[in-house]
Amino acid sequence: PQVQSFDLVIFGGTGDLAARKLLPAMFHRFVDGQIPENSRIIGIAREATDDAGYREQMRKALNAEGPKAEKVDAFLKQVFYRSLDARKDAGWDDFAALMAERPDNVRVFYLSTSPDLFIDICTRLGSHRLNEGASRVVLEKPIGRDLQSANQINDAVGQVFNESQTYRIDHYLGKETVQNLLALRFGNALFEPLWNAEHIDHVQITVAETLGVGNRAAYYNRAGALRDMVQNHILQLVCMVAMEPPASLSPDAVRDEKLKVLRSLRPIDASNAAHLTVRGQYRAGAAEGQGVPGYLEELGDKSDTETFVALKTEIANWRWAGVPFYLRTGKRLPERVSEIVVAFKSVPHSIFDASAGAIANNRLVLRLQPDEGVKLWLTIKHPGPGGLRLRHVPLDMSFAEAFGVSQPDAYERLLLDVVRGNPTLFMRRDEVEAAWLWADPILDAWACSGESPKPYTAGTWGPSASVALIERDGRTWNDGG
Ligand code: BG6
Repeated sequence: PQVQSFDLVIFGGTGDLAARKLLPAMFHRFVDGQIPENSRIIGIAREATDDAGYREQMRKALNAEGPKAEKVDAFLKQVFYRSLDARKDAGWDDFAALMAERPDNVRVFYLSTSPDLFIDICTRLGSHRLNEGASRVVLEKPIGRDLQSANQINDAVGQVFNESQTYRIDHYLGKETVQNLLALRFGNALFEPLWNAEHIDHVQITVAETLGVGNRAAYYNRAGALRDMVQNHILQLVCMVAMEPPASLSPDAVRDEKLKVLRSLRPIDASNAAHLTVRGQYRAGAAEGQGVPGYLEELGDKSDTETFVALKTEIANWRWAGVPFYLRTGKRLPERVSEIVVAFKSVPHSIFDASAGAIANNRLVLRLQPDEGVKLWLTIKHPGPGGLRLRHVPLDMSFAEAFGVSQPDAYERLLLDVVRGNPTLFMRRDEVEAAWLWADPILDAWACSGESPKPYTAGTWGPSASVALIERDGRTWNDGG
């Protein structure tokens, strides 16, 4: 079904996210007939181009083939561009006049810029009264670089847009498998009774990328893996795994439960960071069969920014006490894979002879990408004669095979949720604050330690200390399972 007519205004309209994700997401929704004719997508950036120039840039970015290519022209008719500098007055009146042409459209302002500009942009939107009525603002992560700067941003944005108009996006929440976690946990009677410290040995979450930082080095070097991936995406995944059943799917019911998880994370600070965290930075190596430069070569400078982080945390509450959560993410790892592994405890007593082989613990593996799906690893008897031999095999559900459709990109879902005014899959201010409250002491501990991140060769699973982090507890990372 179509949504209400809208204007989606993308600040940072010529940037990486707009070209790689936002415009393609809108195009796919257009192809599916979900975008009303009266709607517009308006790119805003400093670059001096016009509607025609921007449409050509976006045509390249869409790179559409086959039957979809025929729809590109029609889509681009709904795409516009205005050149603006968030810090200067020029052009704002013209932009406000453009917005006034469609007074009934829902207005969505997507701030896909450096967070340093959020305050200026919102202030000017406010002074042009573009925050009034059905207006929403979307803030890209990371919001600030620590609790203090996040508060400044949230306070300043809050002067112009109230909390119900503010959508803090974390695109991991729009991924199908992440939403499926809700269905799996709360739509099946099977899991919930086992979903606790009594039955779960540990949880591990891996978000591995083969890409390096490429042309985002300037942003990335100020952020690093903890701010770029852990403080937001990975903690949101932790929340979805660990939260108590919400009373309903209403936005605040879900977000209240997530907040409790964030507030229960065991602190990591200077007293235990050396033991519980590993930072890495890639050196030259190989990715997808090709030689690739190291991070410092790409940056062209010295840097202690981490491109890999592994850590062990715990959720200090009744359900999870004593269950380690191992989290890791990195650039230039051997494969692109994001998954959540819930590893169950072993049976209390084995009735099998040693000759049957070992009983492997049950594992539930939720694959976020690629090949979205769910695998439940079971122990069974190897079929046939030859005595009782145990085997470890997966009950394997691939979304693509089961439903035969490719999964929509997370941004498709989330952008339309903003138009519809549904904030369930967006972060509330207090969640962002709780996440920084946990992340800040880790960043401080690293800064105080004066240690550089450990080098790892591009195309490997990070520094060996990451393997040691989990293996000293007698566990292993689920590489390639
Ligand atoms: C972004 C990070 O939020 O997520 C990037 O800033 C990262 O560094 C990206 O590459 C990963 O998203 P996805 O959807 O490709 O896993």
